[in-house]
Amino acid sequence: MKTTWSFHTAGAIHFGIGATEQLSEIVKELKTKRALLVTDKAIVKAGLADHVQSKLSSGGIQVKAFDGGEPEPSIQALLNCYQFAAEWTPDLLVGLGGGSNMDLAKVVGVLLTYGGTPQDYFGEGKVPGPIIPLIAIPTTAGTGSEVTHAGVLTDTENNIKVAVASNYLRPNVAVVDPLMTVTCPPKATADSGIDALTHAIEAYMATDSSDLEVPAGEISIYQGRMPLGNCLVESAVPLIVQHLPNAVNDGKNIKAREGMHLGALIAGMGFSNVGVGAVHALEYPIGGAVHCSHGCGNGLLLPYVMKFNKPVRLEALARLAELMGVNVEGLTQEEKADAAINKVRTLRKEIGIPDKLREIGVQENQLHSFAEMALNIKRLMRSNPRSPTVDDLEEILKDAY
Ligand SMILES: NC(=O)c1ccc[n+]([C@@H]2O[C@H](COP(=O)([O-])OP(=O)(O)OC[C@H]3O[C@@H](n4cnc5c(N)ncnc54)[C@H](O)[C@@H]3O)[C@@H](O)[C@H]2O)c1
Ligand SMILES: [Zn+2]
Repeated sequence: MKTTWSFHTAGAIHFGIGATEQLSEIVKELKTKRALLVTDKAIVKAGLADHVQSKLSSGGIQVKAFDGGEPEPSIQALLNCYQFAAEWTPDLLVGLGGGSNMDLAKVVGVLLTYGGTPQDYFGEGKVPGPIIPLIAIPTTAGTGSEVTHAGVLTDTENNIKVAVASNYLRPNVAVVDPLMTVTCPPKATADSGIDALTHAIEAYMATDSSDLEVPAGEISIYQGRMPLGNCLVESAVPLIVQHLPNAVNDGKNIKAREGMHLGALIAGMGFSNVGVGAVHALEYPIGGAVHCSHGCGNGLLLPYVMKFNKPVRLEALARLAELMGVNVEGLTQEEKADAAINKVRTLRKEIGIPDKLREIGVQENQLHSFAEMALNIKRLMRSNPRSPTVDDLEEILKDAY
C-alpha cells in the first residue's frame, strides 16, 4: 500500500488582472537573453502576442515569435516549431495561447535541451532532466497547462492524442492574467472551460492515493486522490460552475473571466498531481479520430463516466452536487450523486457542448476500437476508481453514442 504522496506545480504563479504587466520584471529575474514566443495566428490577431512581446523586450531581452501553433497540435507542427527554435537558439521559451501553444512550447523545450525525436519522449518519465526555462501564459481558461506536467500532441498517422508527461515540463513561471482570455471566442471558452471542470471532477473521483497500483519499474506522476488535491478541487468546482456560462455568453465580463481563470488554474494544480481517468482516456482516441476539441470530447463524455463510477464514488459525487450549488436538502446520497450528474448535463447544454458522440461525427463501428485504445492508456486508466473492462468502456461509449 502506498503511504506517501508528493505534489508539484509551476515554480511561480503570478495571478490577476494585469499580471502580464509584470513580465518585464519576471524575465529580468530569470537572467535570460533570447526568448522564443510560441503562439498562433489567432493570438497574434487578437493583439496578445504584441502585448507580451513588448513586455519581454522592455525586460531587456530579444524576442522572436513562432506563430505556427494550431489547435490540438500535430507532431508536424511541433517539428516546424522545433526547426524555427533551433535556428534562433533561445535560452527562454514563452508559451502564449491555450493548452495547444503552451504544450507545443513544452515539448520544443525538451527537444532543444535533449535532442532526439518527439517519439522518444511519449509516455511518462522519459524526459531526462530539466528543460530550458519556460514561461506559460494561458489565453484560455481550461487546460491548466501553465502548471501541469503534460505536453499533448496529435499523432495524425495513428489518429490518437499522445502525451509527453514529466514533472520537468512544469513551467518555471505561470503568468495567469484574465485579460488574456477576453478575446477567446465562445466555443473555445466553452470547450476549454468544461475541460477544467472535467479535470476537477475526474480528480475528485480518482483512485485513492493509497490504492494506486504502479507496476514495479514504472513511475506515476499521478499520485491518486489525496488531501491537498481535494482542497484544490473543492475550490475549483464552485468557481467554474458559477462563472463558465457568463464567460461563454458574455466574453467581456471580467468577473467571469477572472473566476474561470482561477478555477482552471486551481483545477490544473489539482488534477496534474492527483490524476484524471476514463474520460480523458476515452477522449484520446475519439479526439484523434474525429478531431473534436479535447474539451468538447471530455465535456460530452463526462456525465457518462460519472454514471459508470457512481457505484464506487457515491460520497464524492454527492459532495460534488453541493459544490456545484445544487439544493440537496432532503436527498439521499444516491439522489445527490444523480443530481451532480444532471447538473453537469445542464451546464453542458447551457454552453453548447453536444450530448451524443454521433453529433461530433463518431460512427458506431468505431466504438469498440476506441474502447480498446483507451484501455491501453494505463497512466490514465489506473487513476479511474472503477477498473473498466473493454466491454465496460464500449458500454459507456454506446450510452454516449
Ligand atoms: N498540458 C496539459 O496538462 C493539458 C491538459 C488538458 C488539455 N491539454 C491539451 O490542450 C489543448 C487544448 O487547449 P485549449 O482548450 O486551451 O484550446 P486551444 O489552445 O486549442 O485553443 C483553441 C482555439 O482558440 C484560440 N484562442 C485561444 N485563446 C484565445 C484568445 N484569448 N483570443 C483569441 N483566440 C484564442 C486558439 O488560437 C485556437 O484556435 C489540447 O491539445 C489538449 O489535449 C493539455
Ligand atoms: Zn483535459
